[in-house]
Amino acid sequence: METRVRRGDAAQATGEFVIVPLAAGEENGATVRALGRVAGSAALRATVAATRFRGREGQMATIPVAGRGRRVFCLVGLGAAGSLDTDAWRRAAARGRSAAETAGARRVMILADARATDEAHLVALAEGFHLAGYRFTKYKSDGETPPVIERLSIVAPDPPAEQELRAAWLRLDAVVEAVALVRDLVNEPAAVKTPTYLGDLAKAFAKKLGTRSGLTVDVWNLARIKKEKLAGLLAVARGSREEPRLIRLHYKGAGARRHVALVGKGVTFDSGGLSLKPAKSMETMKIDMAGGATVLATMQLLAKLQLPIEVSAFVPATENLPSSTAQKPGDVITYRNGKTVEVLNTDAEGRLILADALILAADRKPDSIIDLATLTGACMVALGHQVAGLFGNDRPLVERVAAAGRAAGEPLWELPLVADYRDDIRSPVADIKNIGGGYAGSITAALFLEHFVAECPWVHLDIAGPAFTEKALPYYPRGGTGFGVRTLLHYLTKTASEDDGDGATRVADGSARRKGSGRTRRAGARRGARRPRK
Ligand code: BES
Ligand code: MN
Ligand code: ZN
Repeated sequence: METRVRRGDAAQATGEFVIVPLAAGEENGATVRALGRVAGSAALRATVAATRFRGREGQMATIPVAGRGRRVFCLVGLGAAGSLDTDAWRRAAARGRSAAETAGARRVMILADARATDEAHLVALAEGFHLAGYRFTKYKSDGETPPVIERLSIVAPDPPAEQELRAAWLRLDAVVEAVALVRDLVNEPAAVKTPTYLGDLAKAFAKKLGTRSGLTVDVWNLARIKKEKLAGLLAVARGSREEPRLIRLHYKGAGARRHVALVGKGVTFDSGGLSLKPAKSMETMKIDMAGGATVLATMQLLAKLQLPIEVSAFVPATENLPSSTAQKPGDVITYRNGKTVEVLNTDAEGRLILADALILAADRKPDSIIDLATLTGACMVALGHQVAGLFGNDRPLVERVAAAGRAAGEPLWELPLVADYRDDIRSPVADIKNIGGGYAGSITAALFLEHFVAECPWVHLDIAGPAFTEKALPYYPRGGTGFGVRTLLHYLTKTASEDDGDGATRVADGSARRKGSGRTRRAGARRGARRPRK
């Protein structure tokens, strides 16, 4: 959808549906007075007062403008003016959009103020607005059609020039499409989105982009997976008649200096296997490929945007089902790097298949590895539905990913890789076992993964909570959220622009440090990190 930006203030708020974000205490402020003049109505302030709108976060007041056809001012509360982060603008735009849809508006205007007039804030407004427009209606037989909003225009006092924003809007369109792809895949029933389906989808979008895009996809079938000794993927897939897939994607943009590896959990349905889940816990288990979908969509996005970076991605995809051929508690599997794992709970399957993918990723010796997985219910217990668990073995990398999450409005919270808890996953019969002692389940899961990343700087995002939302949030309709795509894009964009070719490395604050110092610090942090005792 088209996004336009116009220079102006309340006097230009002439659209049929005008979203007006206001912080607490601004219900009597200059903007509302100016809107009153625009509406030619001294009564506007009284009307606002009557709605008891106070600018609290999430508060809304929709005010029809008398004598102006169907024109509406929609005030949206931002919360306390002192604590506005970028996400406040995303949420405000998203809430305004919902109200606009309810009102049946076709052309919507957002009145931005001086706080939201630079590119980052204008993009946040548009991003919240566009992300909120997603619907999953393909299985509705009553032909329910989403409301049609045709155009968004943003009025801001001092915006960048139109042509400066053009790249930002193209990028935003691609981002919103990538998020929608993840949501579609997560919402799709497991009967449809089999491992084979995911592999075919990756091949199809790579083919469409063409090899000149720098993206290549290579999908391993069962025979190849056996040949490559992907022990975890084989063990989990044994229970199902659906064949597993290991989806490998590679992207290299012109001018790439950094190499990142991405890994995403692709369990297309998690019944628990023989360690069967109760019915209630299984209801949402089609979402268990959200990490994999995020990685697929991000790779497609990188190729569309032609980011100057190299990325190797690995998505192990399988169902986790019980059957007479399923793996059994007590089985021992041997990975291609020689590590042995005692499988005590077949429902801890994510770590088993991620281990294969992490070995493959680390073999490439990338600058960093990031994995995303709906890995543990324990992470939801700890952090709820809106925050992902963040783990890592390398301080600078953890900080960078955390910063990317903040920029994206995707909250990540670091949990510790407690060295002493490594004892919890020791096995009496194999090197390690696939469950811990009962407490700190998301930490012991991360400690399990750490065994397979060799010496590589690595971050693990446990997205079990935020991958899916039962209740609609401002820019997440109920269902798959697409959480993670925008964090990865922020991280990869920043990493791509790191320049050590001219003798300096640009760091987040824009200053430069001596060539090699970043590396040294990273290596130092790695040495300092306690390695798992084997
Ligand atoms: N896919 C689940 C984790 C999950 C739970 C994701 C709820 C999203 C919502 C994972 O495979 C799993 O079953 N984990 C077990 C691990 C346990 C057996 C050690 C869990 O969290 O209960
Ligand atoms: Mn499971
Ligand atoms: Zn799972």
